[in-house]
Amino acid sequence: MASSSQVTFITGGASGMGLAVVEDLAAKGWNITIFDFDHEAGGKVAEKLGQQVLFIKGNVTKYEELGAAFAETWKKWGSIDFGLLSKQVFANAGIGEHIKFYEQKEELPEGFPAKPSTLTLEVNLLGVVYTAYLALHFFRKNASKGGTLVMTSSASALYPSPGLALYSSAKHAVVGLTRSMGAALKAEPITVNSICPGLVPTGLLPQSFSAALKAEMVTPTSTVVKAINTFLEDRTVTGQAVECSGPDLIYRPSFEPENEAARLMLAFADGKVPLNFDMADMQSHAKAKQEVYEQMR
Ligand SMILES: NC(=O)c1ccc[n+]([C@@H]2O[C@H](COP(=O)([O-])OP(=O)(O)OC[C@H]3O[C@@H](n4cnc5c(N)ncnc54)[C@H](O)[C@@H]3O)[C@@H](O)[C@H]2O)c1
Repeated sequence: MASSSQVTFITGGASGMGLAVVEDLAAKGWNITIFDFDHEAGGKVAEKLGQQVLFIKGNVTKYEELGAAFAETWKKWGSIDFGLLSKQVFANAGIGEHIKFYEQKEELPEGFPAKPSTLTLEVNLLGVVYTAYLALHFFRKNASKGGTLVMTSSASALYPSPGLALYSSAKHAVVGLTRSMGAALKAEPITVNSICPGLVPTGLLPQSFSAALKAEMVTPTSTVVKAINTFLEDRTVTGQAVECSGPDLIYRPSFEPENEAARLMLAFADGKVPLNFDMADMQSHAKAKQEVYEQMR
């Protein structure tokens, strides 16, 4: 069924900050796909919000599940005439740190410890990468060729987080992805930003911990909703990592270059410093590397 309403695709929309954004956009008349692993919570949200919400159970680490959900959303709400699918994508699903990275481990008979679980990286980074990749594809299918991608990073991408080794690594990477995509897609009507929330009492945190937080330490979900609406309204904002802290949105730019080598490197990347190099050598180098990479897969 084609629709003239705006369409959003939200991962992790069955709970916490994803749910707050779902509720806000539903009240404004958006059509919403929630893609979430939690079947029970997602089903309840869809039941409560009615026709506007399509709930699809799935795992963001499974590319085919995610791709099929985008395609189903397109089929339900996209059309050749309007092509409004995924005007907005919120890559938000995430989990906390779940391994004790620093703990002394037992050795296996082979003489080294068992392989650590990398699930935190897979959900919080790979899941976001897959969502961003698919968002780009479907944005370009829109009649407008445009869309708004928001990815959920964390304050742990901005501040030292010794207890969150893998979580913090993934969230730093989401900021890197944001800055790369934002810069690369400037010529297209696509914006890419990330949010870096502080402590938000959601299902991610134990209830007793949330209850113990002092009010001044808490970032309400309304600050996240405010960030999303800022990105939707202001199309000049792109490539930004925005800290959501208490009631505030704080823009966190990347570092400025400190010396000539760094300045020139950036100018080259920007196409402002021409270099003379042998293109044929460049291509054969890329081809040789590609063969090695194929063996690594
Ligand atoms: N709560 C905080 O203090 C805080 C702070 C900074 C960043 N974040 C980030 O915010 C995002 C949202 O978390 P939240 O705090 O609202 O937590 P939440 O647990 O309330 O919501 C997360 C949702 O993501 C879903 N999800 C988790 N893994 C999934 C997967 N593999 N596939 C599909 N769905 C999956 C869960 O089922 C849940 O509905 C996460 O990326 C989290 O890392 C949270």
